[in-house]
Amino acid sequence: MYDVEQIKTIQANTLKWLDKKLALDVTQENIEMLREVLRFHEYRYYVLNEPSISDVEYDLVYKKLEQAEKAHPEWVISDSPTQRVGVGMIKDFPKTRHLVPMLSLENSYNSEDLLDWDRKVRELSGLETLEYTVEPKFDGASISLVYENDKLLRGVTRGDGETGDDITPNIYQIRSIPLSAKFSIHNIRQIEIRGEIMMTKEHFRRYNEKLMEEGVPPLANPRNAAAGTLRIKDSKIVRERNLVGFLYHVSDINWIENSATQQLKQHTSMIDMLWDLGFKSPKQEIKICRGIQDVVDEINAFEKKRDDLPYEIDGMVIKVNDLSLQEKLGMTSHHPRWAIAYKFKARQATSKLLDVEFQVGRTGAVTPVAKIDPVAVGGVTVSSISIHNEDYINEKDLHIGDRVLIERSGDVIPQIVKALPEWRTGDEQPIHFPKHCPVCQESLHKLEEEAVWRCSNAACAAQLVERIIHFVSKDAMDIRSLGEANVRKFHALHWLNDIPGVYALPFDEMAKLDGFGPKSIQNLKAAIEQSKHQPLFRLIYGLGIRFVGETTAKTLARHIHHLFDLEKMSLEELQQLEDVGIKVATSIHDFFCHPEHIRMLKTLETIGLNLVSEKQIQTSGSLVGKTFLFTGTLPTMKRSEAESMVEAEGGQLLSGVSSKLNFLIAGEDAGSKLEKAKKIPAIQILSEQEFLNMVYGSNQH
Ligand code: IVH
Repeated sequence: MYDVEQIKTIQANTLKWLDKKLALDVTQENIEMLREVLRFHEYRYYVLNEPSISDVEYDLVYKKLEQAEKAHPEWVISDSPTQRVGVGMIKDFPKTRHLVPMLSLENSYNSEDLLDWDRKVRELSGLETLEYTVEPKFDGASISLVYENDKLLRGVTRGDGETGDDITPNIYQIRSIPLSAKFSIHNIRQIEIRGEIMMTKEHFRRYNEKLMEEGVPPLANPRNAAAGTLRIKDSKIVRERNLVGFLYHVSDINWIENSATQQLKQHTSMIDMLWDLGFKSPKQEIKICRGIQDVVDEINAFEKKRDDLPYEIDGMVIKVNDLSLQEKLGMTSHHPRWAIAYKFKARQATSKLLDVEFQVGRTGAVTPVAKIDPVAVGGVTVSSISIHNEDYINEKDLHIGDRVLIERSGDVIPQIVKALPEWRTGDEQPIHFPKHCPVCQESLHKLEEEAVWRCSNAACAAQLVERIIHFVSKDAMDIRSLGEANVRKFHALHWLNDIPGVYALPFDEMAKLDGFGPKSIQNLKAAIEQSKHQPLFRLIYGLGIRFVGETTAKTLARHIHHLFDLEKMSLEELQQLEDVGIKVATSIHDFFCHPEHIRMLKTLETIGLNLVSEKQIQTSGSLVGKTFLFTGTLPTMKRSEAESMVEAEGGQLLSGVSSKLNFLIAGEDAGSKLEKAKKIPAIQILSEQEFLNMVYGSNQH
């Protein structure tokens, strides 16, 4: 995409815009250079996943462009990076005809299917051995993009294959898709490209986590998340979902003056062209194979890597590499003859919904859990699946006795995709939601804006037990040797009725139980004792305050000195913190308003639990807001002394060289970290003396 010279120029230009002393003004002459700088860094970040400036620096340069275009609207152009900001609410997505119908692919499931297909292709082409390509079958929502005169003209969903919905404003929010690309250097006036819009596994996991924290049922897979996001009419939300676009096929080209380019003779040359023009195409994943046996080997090798990919694939696509041969082979009415999909073993299965149990969670939420006939899905046997809430049951029209389709997508918890009504016999029974708590019999209630029925009896045994299970869990206080089963057992024995009870277990009595030898009791004692010294964020997370997940707990711990500081914080103050909105703030505030919660925390303090934050964010000091890394041997100081100095002055230590790093302090024999840092222009490399001058001012020696 960019050659070495261009990179050098753009990096030098980046520094010009970042240099505070220079304070460069945006003019009509340099505005395109400014855009080039921003496009380059977007490409590094979203296409290559290798940013070379920090987010803050990007924002700084971006703001310069934004301000200039605001002051001079006549300077705005359609492919300016500012144009991704979005048009606000979209009214509708007009129906649009694809330039070429979007066909699907023939499927294959084993090597025999592939050998059959290869035989047919060889017969039709009259060739003995063919050159095939093998690439991932991206599991997302398919899309067609049209570029005209180097500008993105529109993006259209698949629809019925003939016509789809024009969702161009949402495509603008996908920052790995260029708004302009130099197709003209290949003599291309207009081009239609096919691809897949995806949500990465990581973004999907985070998105589902957020949904569940809000009491909304999670989505079954990243494909549904991506497809759903593309239909959202608020482009700001689309932008926040962090979709990515993979482009893998050129379906139509209109040449400038009928000058078809000589170089574009193969599928791989199209993939290379797309990559070179700044698209995410499968250039790094695609393999060229001679003959079908090569293809089979390549598929087997790739399938092993499936779980390590950051996104979902549901198979591989095999294509004839030679484009003129593709044309010769042509299409059936359903699919091209020159390509075939090889589907991996599905992470779906069907089973029977036998019964529904209702479980009471630590916040009193009553969750229906479907008990199903045990079935293997993607290598794991599944026998119970959360079906979330009443709305979810109604929406999916689930009945006891139904056959259901189950999916276990990637690292995600299994979900019921849908009921299969065609299997119904008439004996299926509706699922009745209880009116009373199945554990303490208190009447359940539901807030109007929520889908969840709750037991509001704070003393409900089920809630108590769940709260303790959460408190001792791995990501909270990490008393694993206590564990869920033991918590339940000790609760049943009336030894464990609340969180402080964890620290007052009757070990003598325990020794009389089966399976509790001296060694396991000793381990348990030690683990409980150790937990008293856990960092504060773990305790905050372990308290199970609604909407306070691990990330929020960390944020809270960073901003306070002592746990009781949270009691003193107002709703407004809480909302000043990152990612704390009114809902989270209210929940924290409510928690600390309950006298029994304060009493419990005081008891924990008396028991000796750590309530003090170690990693407070300092808001004063000469290094606040700056990041540091030390490498090599420092001439006069120990590394640990220098690091303590950074922390004492409010700076942050990083463990590796990345675009987030501001200063690398290099001592003697600095090795690879120094080399790496030299390649990132935004990192300043300092000697120990320069570092000390920075901390104490330059008259210190
Ligand atoms: S080629 C003319 N390549 O899978 C056919 N399709 O089940 C062009 N898909 O409709 C399609 N990854 O939406 C092609 N590497 C890939 C793909 C891919 C995913 C989708 C595409 C297609 C569907 C067929």
